[in-house]
Amino acid sequence: MEPIEDLDVLDEERVRQREVDGEADEDLDRVKHGYDATAGDKQVYIETYGCQMNVNDSGIVASVLEESGYGLTREQAEADVVLLNTCAIRENAERKIRVRLSMLRSEKEKRDGELMLGVLGCMAERLREKLLEQEDLVDVVVGPDAYRDLPQLLYEADATGQAAVNVELSKQETYEDIQPVRYDSNGVSAYVSIMRGCDNMCTFCVVPFTRGREESRPVTTILSEVSQLVEEGYKEVTLLGQNVNSYHYTDESGTSVSFAELVDRVSRVSTELRVRYSTSHPKDCTDDLLTVHRDRPNVCNYIHLPVQHGNTEVLDRMRRTYTREEYLALTERAKELCPGVSLSTDLIAGFCGETEAQHEDTLSLMEAVRYDHAYMFKYSERPQTYAARKYEDDVPADTKQRRLEEIIELQNQHAKESNEAEIGRVHTVLVEGPSKKSDEQFFGRADTNKGVVFDREDYEKGDYVRVRIDDCTSSTLLGTALEQTTLEEAARTDSITTEPAMA
Ligand code: 5AD
Ligand code: SF4
Repeated sequence: MEPIEDLDVLDEERVRQREVDGEADEDLDRVKHGYDATAGDKQVYIETYGCQMNVNDSGIVASVLEESGYGLTREQAEADVVLLNTCAIRENAERKIRVRLSMLRSEKEKRDGELMLGVLGCMAERLREKLLEQEDLVDVVVGPDAYRDLPQLLYEADATGQAAVNVELSKQETYEDIQPVRYDSNGVSAYVSIMRGCDNMCTFCVVPFTRGREESRPVTTILSEVSQLVEEGYKEVTLLGQNVNSYHYTDESGTSVSFAELVDRVSRVSTELRVRYSTSHPKDCTDDLLTVHRDRPNVCNYIHLPVQHGNTEVLDRMRRTYTREEYLALTERAKELCPGVSLSTDLIAGFCGETEAQHEDTLSLMEAVRYDHAYMFKYSERPQTYAARKYEDDVPADTKQRRLEEIIELQNQHAKESNEAEIGRVHTVLVEGPSKKSDEQFFGRADTNKGVVFDREDYEKGDYVRVRIDDCTSSTLLGTALEQTTLEEAARTDSITTEPAMA
């Protein structure tokens, strides 16, 4: 069957990587450890591209390097080492990073080579050979499962003047014992990684090739990281993984823990901690999980449920493993079990062989579900994927663009209507910090993940505030703070109540 064919390709690739890494190990033996001593007062600057997982991974990288004596800087000009944590999901993302890399390279030349450059993450995995062919382009190339080796690789590259590489994908590595440095955090909400990799093999997606097979992190280490965050004053966690619904772990007592069970356990760490997760696959969104949303007041009433397309034949070619009808039934079930649930999605326009009628199916599915938010993309062919190998990328560029624009326009209209319907409602908002436009106003999120802006008065970052919605733009709700509250209190008084729009 098709999925097995792709998984075999992945296995072969991994065996090959292990062989190459065997050679690299010998090199490393020649350059003995000792990176702690040489890190000295070197400063590292990390630039992150792509998904939330990469943001969290940059925190892991920072933690590993700090442990080895490196300092972290927010100023690239002060850095001795610049690391780009990269994304390979679409061609555009890679193009942006290549431009950035060539800028950094000319800076390295200006500084007579006294600047080390590293490529981390998905592009490192994908482009190892290319990056190395042009050897002076980068000093270290490190895949998503090899961050523990970074200090040693930097040492090696510095000592030998040769690029140092580790792009081995591991079935075991979950960095379960590493507390990421949360240097870009607002101090209120934090990401917690619960699993890595993806076994789904959607035909358009490069992730299984760049991040490898699925591996779940032990439950106890997740719960202790969440407890630590609560002690530090965090009020919201987002559980992260490429496909969180596939989470499964057998704990010390032999109990098998599913994703629904994990979310329940995390929600019991503190009644004042909001729990979100990202990103989920519709095929694994069970009634058990929807029930946890319904029964646990601090599990947010918001689900990101990427559909990708509205036509069953295209979904089949994408290997999404559900039909249009099954997906629609799932969203109906979510709305039935969790009244008021907010849904968002990912959509791809112009996939291989997409006809005009199939594109219309995406638009009609959007009409049926009415998402509060969507991430919308033009199909971009990715090397190694099943689609790149077996299908023709045959939708003309201008047609792809026009179809994407139609999707975006419809989504904007739905978001606007959904926001207008909020006027007069009261939401419990978690304050994240000042709004982008004014220090006199706060920005926070409602339970449903919608952004809310209101006058800050005497409220503080990290407070839960009941806010009445008075107005909106297509992307933000504008409101008036009524009073401070707690999540427990909000659950008792029902977090969404309807009040008149005007006093
Ligand atoms: N082309 C366009 N969009 C893609 N995505 C993943 N791979 C591709 C691709 N080759 C989108 C999907 C996925 C999101 C993270 O990125 O919608 O859910
Ligand atoms: Fe890619 Fe998501 Fe499909 Fe996994 S489930 S292959 S990460 S689109």
